[in-house]
Amino acid sequence: MSGERRIVVVGGGGGALGRAVVARLLGDGWPVVVAARHLPDPEIPGALFAPCDLGDPAAVGALAERVRAEGEWAGVVNCSGGYAGDLGHRVSEDDRAARLELNLLGPWRLAAAGAQAMEEQGGGGRIVNVLGRAAVEVAAGQAVYQVAKAALLRLTEVMAAELREAGITVNAVLPSVMDTPANRRAMPDADHSRWVPVDRVAAAVAWLLSPDSDQVSGAAVPVYGRA
Ligand SMILES: NC(=O)c1ccc[n+]([C@@H]2O[C@H](COP(=O)([O-])OP(=O)(O)OC[C@H]3O[C@@H](n4cnc5c(N)ncnc54)[C@H](OP(=O)(O)O)[C@@H]3O)[C@@H](O)[C@H]2O)c1
Repeated sequence: MSGERRIVVVGGGGGALGRAVVARLLGDGWPVVVAARHLPDPEIPGALFAPCDLGDPAAVGALAERVRAEGEWAGVVNCSGGYAGDLGHRVSEDDRAARLELNLLGPWRLAAAGAQAMEEQGGGGRIVNVLGRAAVEVAAGQAVYQVAKAALLRLTEVMAAELREAGITVNAVLPSVMDTPANRRAMPDADHSRWVPVDRVAAAVAWLLSPDSDQVSGAAVPVYGRA
């Protein structure tokens, strides 16, 4: 190990889950870089913000350089993504492209940038992708979201196999409905007490970044609670 600062990069770190993940990781003592398009509001004290549109390969390349200037890549957490309803046979070309970009290609770029940096550093590191039940359970009316999350699960498994010898673990967490402000606005009459608190999902992510999980790779961890 080089003695450099070992940094965790959180894509979408200003979102509902992302903020909880960043807070947890800072509490665990990790230096954290938040990669998102907008400065988190309110700002997250202690985290370094690196503006980055994961849809732009050049921006992801610039992010990789910036993190290397700050230290080593120790981990990546992919919290960017977002739900949208559609039908597989009705979705427009534009919506399909945008939703695949948001839920699959952007997280893929960040995971790849992190893995390349980890290899170049000599190996070792952690990648955690946030998926959801949609990765493993079929539901009508969310075709692109389901396809993207299922593909990101397969990518998690493939990268776990490809990076095993380099000591880089690649895992996924699958939250059920989380208790977020957006979900409360969208479903005001639901029983919010059944939803999964974001800090419990963050705890699962933190475990996958911790020394205790160093033998775990290619896993898809359900975080369903009672939701
Ligand atoms: N909410 C749920 O109940 C639920 C359940 C299961 C799974 N999930 C999954 O959990 C993850 C987090 O969900 P959430 O509810 O926390 O979502 P959220 O609050 O909307 O946060 C997502 C974040 O992703 C960032 N982002 C979007 N596009 C980006 C891009 N091109 N480049 C960089 N960052 C980008 C956004 O920040 P900027 O706008 O600043 O870029 C946003 O803060 C998602 O993958 C979601 O599919 C959510």
